[in-house]
Amino acid sequence: MKGIILAGGRGSRLYPITRGISKQLFPVYDKPMIYHPITTLMLAGVTDFLIISTPQALPTFRELLGDGGQWGVSFQYAAQGEPRGLADAFLIGEEFIGGDPVALALGDNIFHGAGLGEQLEDINRGNQGATIFGYTVADPSSFGVVEQGPDGKAISIEEKPKNPKSNLAVTGLYFYDNQVVEIAKSVKPSKRGEIEITAVNNAYLQRGQLDLKVLPRGTAWLDAGTFDGLLQAAEYVHAVEKRTGTKIACPEEVAWHIGLIDDAQVRALAADHRNEYGDYLLRLVG
Ligand code: G1P
Repeated sequence: MKGIILAGGRGSRLYPITRGISKQLFPVYDKPMIYHPITTLMLAGVTDFLIISTPQALPTFRELLGDGGQWGVSFQYAAQGEPRGLADAFLIGEEFIGGDPVALALGDNIFHGAGLGEQLEDINRGNQGATIFGYTVADPSSFGVVEQGPDGKAISIEEKPKNPKSNLAVTGLYFYDNQVVEIAKSVKPSKRGEIEITAVNNAYLQRGQLDLKVLPRGTAWLDAGTFDGLLQAAEYVHAVEKRTGTKIACPEEVAWHIGLIDDAQVRALAADHRNEYGDYLLRLVG
């Protein structure tokens, strides 16, 4: 499965601190925000990535992430000039996707929880149709909202409804089979002029091929794309890391854990950091 990370053009809720900068380059405590979607997809088994951002921000992403070889993965880059909607990722990424299934991760969404990686890997292995992830939130009105039937299956999805039919928000992580490219091409722009991911998910729903997985309460889902969200995400990562002595979304660790890089490579990467991040990497490999 290929992986696309959408990391740009969606910073308006953080304006003016973003201006031309991509928010996904911002630190969430001790790492750039984009490390979160990258490691989430790595845990799902993705090694082939396309990073989509604004033409202005792409050089910085390249500088930060390179070709991915340092973590045993591959990063390609593509520009999105105008924010044309999340589903535009499948048009920009058509060639990259080729005939494969694809996961889309929004660059400002943070997931953390026991067993999540294994769950994502299982879904990746059996990928058919579309899989979306629901999460219970107090105020779902700024998200896609999914309504469940008595059997727990999705029966409707609405984008930012004024009167949400449930408290189940659609998170920014989506797994699709190869039909997604053709579906994204057929989706009509919404009132805000964007091709919405919700329209793509509704197309799968109509085909009877949408699987809804509800993330358990023990999982954390954070959206770092607002002033409060960014600070809350940093506080969460800080609190968990300090308490447990383990890191959330450390790409070097994930790559090593899943066997993409070996001890010597981790040691070499640690040499880039003259701080506790480097000490952490050295401790990992003993
Ligand atoms: C997007 C999607 C929405 C989803 C949200 C998750 O909203 O359109 O359905 O719930 O991401 O973060 P946006 O952040 O573009 O407003």
